Amino acid sequence: MLLRHLALLALLVAVAWAQRPGARPNQAQNQESGRELIRPDPEACKNRINHAATFRNGHYYFFSWSHGPTSQHERDWLDARNICRKHCQDLVSIETQDEANFVIDNLRTGNVKYIWTSGRKCNFEGCDRPDLQPSIINGWFWAGSNTRMPAINSTHGWRGDWSHTGGSGTPQPDNREFGENGNDEACIAVLNNFYGDGVKWHDISCNHVKPWICEDSDDLLNFARARFGNIP
Ligand SMILES: *[C@@H]1O[C@H](CO)[C@@H](O)[C@H](O)[C@H]1NC(C)=O
Repeated sequence: MLLRHLALLALLVAVAWAQRPGARPNQAQNQESGRELIRPDPEACKNRINHAATFRNGHYYFFSWSHGPTSQHERDWLDARNICRKHCQDLVSIETQDEANFVIDNLRTGNVKYIWTSGRKCNFEGCDRPDLQPSIINGWFWAGSNTRMPAINSTHGWRGDWSHTGGSGTPQPDNREFGENGNDEACIAVLNNFYGDGVKWHDISCNHVKPWICEDSDDLLNFARARFGNIP
C-alpha cells in the first residue's frame, strides 16, 4: 500500500514537474506549451454546482451542458481541467463500473455527443519508468484522483469501458491520430455511440475541444478548506 502511494506520489510530482513553465519540450508539452494547472478559487469552490441527482460517494458532479453559461462551451482537456480545478473539482475520474454507468446514463439523458474525463496517458517527462511501458497499455491514470488504471490487457478486475472499435475499426486505445498527424492520443474521452459502439471510452488527442464533467477533488477541497474553511 505504501509502495503504491509512493508510486502515485511520484507520478503526481512527475505531472506537476512536466507541466511547469519552461519544461523541456516533448509531445505533451508541444500541445500544452506554457500552460499550467491553476489553484482553486475559494468563492468558486463554495458556490460550485451539483448536477448529480444523487450525492455520489460524497462528491458533487458538474455537467458543462447543464449549466447555462457553459452549455454551448467546448474546451480542450487542460482548459476543461482548469475550469473544474477553479471550483475545487477536476475532470471526472471513472474508477468503477457504477461510476461508468452514471456517466453513460447522463450522456444519454442529455443527448451529449462526448465528454472529457481526467483519463491521461503518461507520455511526458518522468514517464520513462519501466512499469509504465508500453504507455498505451500500462501508462494510463486518472489525473483527477491521481490513481493508476489497470493495464488495458489486464486479465483480472475491471479494465474500464474502452470501446472495441474506433475510426480505424480497431479496439481502443489505438493512438490513431499519432499515425496520421503526430498528435499523441493521450487523453480519454467518453463518446456517445460515435462508432455505433455504445457509450464508450476512446483515446483522443488532448487538444480537441469537448464538453466536460467535473467531479469534486478531495485534494483540492482539503487544500481550500484548510485555508479558507466554510466550503461544503
Ligand atoms: C499485455 O501487453 C504487454 C505488452 O504487449 C505484454 O507484455 C503482456 O504480456 C500482456 N499481458 C497480458 C495479460 O496479455
